[in-house]
Amino acid sequence: MILVTGGAGFIGANFVLEWLNASDEPVLNLDKLTYAGNLGTLRSQQDNPRHVFVRADICDRATVDRLFAEHKPRAVLHFAAESHVDRSIHGPADFVQTNVVGTFTLLEAARSYWNTLNDADKAAFRFLHVSTDEVFGSLSATDPQFSETTPYAPNSPYSATKAGSDHLVRAYHHTYGLPVLTTNCSNNYGPYQFPEKLIPLMIANALAGKPLPVYGDGLNVRDWLYVGDHCVAIREVLARGTLGETYNVGGWNEKTNLDVVHTLCGLLDDLRPKASGSYRDQITFVKDRPGHDRRYAIDARKLERDLGWKPAETFETGLRKTVQWYLDNQDWVQNVMSGEYRNWVAKQYEA
Ligand code: NAD
Ligand code: TYD
Repeated sequence: MILVTGGAGFIGANFVLEWLNASDEPVLNLDKLTYAGNLGTLRSQQDNPRHVFVRADICDRATVDRLFAEHKPRAVLHFAAESHVDRSIHGPADFVQTNVVGTFTLLEAARSYWNTLNDADKAAFRFLHVSTDEVFGSLSATDPQFSETTPYAPNSPYSATKAGSDHLVRAYHHTYGLPVLTTNCSNNYGPYQFPEKLIPLMIANALAGKPLPVYGDGLNVRDWLYVGDHCVAIREVLARGTLGETYNVGGWNEKTNLDVVHTLCGLLDDLRPKASGSYRDQITFVKDRPGHDRRYAIDARKLERDLGWKPAETFETGLRKTVQWYLDNQDWVQNVMSGEYRNWVAKQYEA
């Protein structure tokens, strides 16, 4: 079986659902169920004997040790993290705890379990760490995209703690020989993304008739990838990646935030027209994020060349699917927009 951490969050849950659909191999899903974790996303799997869900914290060494000993996974896919930049600005402590201490705890537990394996199982074991392009910092408009050899220069507490976790993963390979792989992916979008991130937040606000809050001048650039394409890339790296190496994952889709919001409004005007006017009328410029990185862009040629991966979705097809999914799954959205969500919105946007 494989052990997935953070499998009730956005990317982890998409990965688990696709894995269980495509493979017979069981999944042990370890998730703390923070505000970002949602068992409703996994409802279709609640009677599936190949999906074992355990609510636990990756910082809890005794529980993680017990799960390794009981379930003997052949691989760890480590998605669990605090993942939202704006939250990391308001409260960095949880980010240090989960992203750095949690990854360290998981690595220590994996290393001691791995040391008990016979030679064949040791060689076959994998620890795949899911990381972000934000560890490389910010690009100017003319800089080349981030490659696997771009120096790390994280700027937010989120990216700094992800960078710390990447370094620990690297060190466990070089020092202890743990068979690790790391992926650094650009911004994801798709079904089941929590409506604090740009795309689902804009869809939710548009439908609720609320302002669409664009930070600063709206010209910051992100490189967008459909979540299903990210999940396929992770499967490829798990199956055939070279141990100790890192792989950049991206969709060659650089867009300004304003472009993204305009495209979303156009799709909503088409799929759920308003009684009068356009959703574009709701666009509002708000105070910029402190230390806001200007541009992220990924050079994904290594993954394409070495493992033959290519994204299946263009930004246009992926975004249309995503908007349609949110329109069709308003009950999921209402469910996650709990009291905690309303507190966050009040703190971030109404201050
Ligand atoms: P998410 O915030 O939607 O989900 C994170 C999950 O981890 C949640 O289910 C949460 O309950 C769980 N979790 C948090 N702390 C935990 C802990 N201490 N113990 C166990 N579980 C815990 O995040 P996401 O967007 O799905 O991102 C998943 C991973 O991918 C993260 O490591 C993130 O850094 C990385 N990543 C995300 C993006 C993106 O655009 N979302 C892009 C590149 C990389
Ligand atoms: P986000 O989805 O938080 O991802 P990240 O910060 O990890 O790239 O934000 C994507 C971009 O959208 C980022 O440049 C910040 C911007 N943004 C807004 O303009 N308004 C918003 O309400 C949010 C949440 C983000």
